[in-house]
Amino acid sequence: MISGHARESARFYRLGTFLYTRPLRPALPRPQNTAMRVLGIETSCDDTGVAVYDAVRGLLAHRLYSQTPIHAQYGGIVPELASRDHVHKLLPLVRAVMTEAQSSAADINGVAYTAGPGLAGALLVGAAVGRALAYAWGVPAIGVHHMEGHLLSPMLESERPAFPFLALLVSGGHTLLADVRGVGDYGVLGESLDDAAGEAFDKTAKLLGLGYPGGPAIASAATGGRPGRFTFPRPMTEKPGLDFSFSGLKTAVVNVVEGQKLGRQVVADIAHAFQEAAVDTLVIKCRRALAQSGHQRLVVAGGVSANRLLRERMAEMARAHGTEVYYPRPEFCTDNGAMIAYTGYLRLAAGQHVDLAFGAQPRWEIDTLPRLN
Ligand code: KG4
Ligand code: ZN
Repeated sequence: MISGHARESARFYRLGTFLYTRPLRPALPRPQNTAMRVLGIETSCDDTGVAVYDAVRGLLAHRLYSQTPIHAQYGGIVPELASRDHVHKLLPLVRAVMTEAQSSAADINGVAYTAGPGLAGALLVGAAVGRALAYAWGVPAIGVHHMEGHLLSPMLESERPAFPFLALLVSGGHTLLADVRGVGDYGVLGESLDDAAGEAFDKTAKLLGLGYPGGPAIASAATGGRPGRFTFPRPMTEKPGLDFSFSGLKTAVVNVVEGQKLGRQVVADIAHAFQEAAVDTLVIKCRRALAQSGHQRLVVAGGVSANRLLRERMAEMARAHGTEVYYPRPEFCTDNGAMIAYTGYLRLAAGQHVDLAFGAQPRWEIDTLPRLN
């Protein structure tokens, strides 16, 4: 069912496409009718994710096609191969998810796609398909900020954090601490000055010959590691401030690796020490940010938030601090269509959408997003 408001805004949207070239048109009236169903598309990197989110019934269906086997043979993501595979996989995945959600085109009130940050070619596939579907179905489209999707992903769970809260976003491309006052009301408190946390896991795994993606590979190798055989620095924890730097940690690993014969046990020992250092660094910065901001709730999201040691250590710290910690379920820590469908739903329901002229934003600062209200 398309609600009256959605039809209205779809019409406005079509009109707007010819009259306006601004990428985002905020401030349409709030819908009277809360019934709304949104198709979400994620193609910012190496996962093709699709989901349908319904305002009343929640997540109806979600599926992910991972390109890991394609990129694993190169030891990292090859952007051209990523874009090409999104082209092959996206529409079949949309069909499968629509069927699973028992939804036809007429049931969809809006299409959300990841507009950035990410790989330009990969983003353009999602943008082109998302907007073409929206145009064909006569509904509005919205370009979602990928990191906002991660940030709001715990809202898909039954135990969801109330605003305001502190957020630690840790993915393959970003590491940032944000003061979250509401949807679209974010203040960046600290971020990585060089490598992202996930990138450090990936690069270290590559150095150790553990393959790609590095996070799960390091975590698994580390289980056989002997504590205390190696010690790596906790970068930037001695100085005040909430920024991160992970390239020094990677260099410390390079220096150790150069003097070693990389047998299975040594690899496990190095993976163990690296994971301890990376996790410790993230926990120390969160503890500091909680103390400085006075927040009682902490959200940890993005691919690295799937890490079990991180969750254990964060729980210990939070208990001592009297803080509640919220995560997305493990499959929604890494990239997925559900977080994009949900974030898109929030923004579409608030009357925001994009016009027909489209682009992609490989770089996009999260604190430049418009407030929801
Ligand atoms: O959020 P995500 O899927 O993609 C980006 O937005 O970048 O995050 C991917 C990153 C990769 O660097 C991967 O190695 C890391 O998350 N990752 C992990 C774990 N699972 C995924 N890092 C540590 N431990 C894990 N269990
Ligand atoms: Zn991501």
